[in-house]
Amino acid sequence: MSKRIIIFGAGGHAKTVVDTAEKEGVYEIAGLLDQRLPAGEQVYGCTVLGNDDWLELHADTIDGVIVAIGDNWTRGLVVQSLKRRFPALPFATTVHPSAQIARGARIGAGSVIMAGAVVNSDAIIGEHSVLYPNTSIDHDSRIGSFVSFAPRCATGGNVCVGDYTAVAIGAVLIHGRTIGEHCVIGAGATVVSDVPPHTVAYGTPARAVRSRAAGDRYL
Ligand SMILES: CC(C)(COP(=O)(O)OP(=O)(O)OC[C@H]1O[C@@H](n2cnc3c(N)ncnc32)[C@H](O)[C@@H]1OP(=O)(O)O)[C@@H](O)C(=O)NCCC(=O)NCCS
Repeated sequence: MSKRIIIFGAGGHAKTVVDTAEKEGVYEIAGLLDQRLPAGEQVYGCTVLGNDDWLELHADTIDGVIVAIGDNWTRGLVVQSLKRRFPALPFATTVHPSAQIARGARIGAGSVIMAGAVVNSDAIIGEHSVLYPNTSIDHDSRIGSFVSFAPRCATGGNVCVGDYTAVAIGAVLIHGRTIGEHCVIGAGATVVSDVPPHTVAYGTPARAVRSRAAGDRYL
């Protein structure tokens, strides 16, 4: 019997998560939770059930939740709030069938690996992180939690990326480099040096442009 999951969120990012989970085919999506839409609204054939209060009544009927909010910081706040309110509720992970997960690679709870992404040998993806289509994380890399890699990013081997960092479309991180937590790496950047925490960096080669606080907008 397939596992019943709830997807938290009903916006653009949630649609990509619904699609990934449907294609993976191991879950039954019981519905979506989103306080901005009226209960009963349909998104990709999934019903909006209400907001997180719905879980008060139905948490025991659910096998897992995926928080499908694109902004890393906001996703983190929602996950922390759900953990406080429903400590026994598990988070589900979904991997598109066209993604490639190599031997020894690990994907944390709540993370989403989209079409064509590659997680190569012994690489580790933390919890509630997102790899958008065709991103490639090479061997032995360590990607934190609440991290996002936009479409067509690539890392070399042994790259470390700290929690809450966002890597924008098409950025390249060469092997062995460390990107701190709460960074934004701009679209098309080529990262050839380590990037300290709380830094916005872009360009080729990427340069630190300014610092940023946790939760500053980047999308
Ligand atoms: C890093 C980022 C947030 C922009 O940062 P910013 O400092 O606020 O940039 P601004 O728009 O204020 O532009 C400032 C300058 O930097 C330049 N610039 C902005 N982003 C750049 C980039 N990625 N590479 C090179 N130059 C860039 C601008 O052209 C501008 O130059 P100018 O002063 O000569 O006109 C943006 O580049 C980015 O990557 N956003 C995320 C996009 C993304 O991944 N979306 C998809 C999610 S699925």
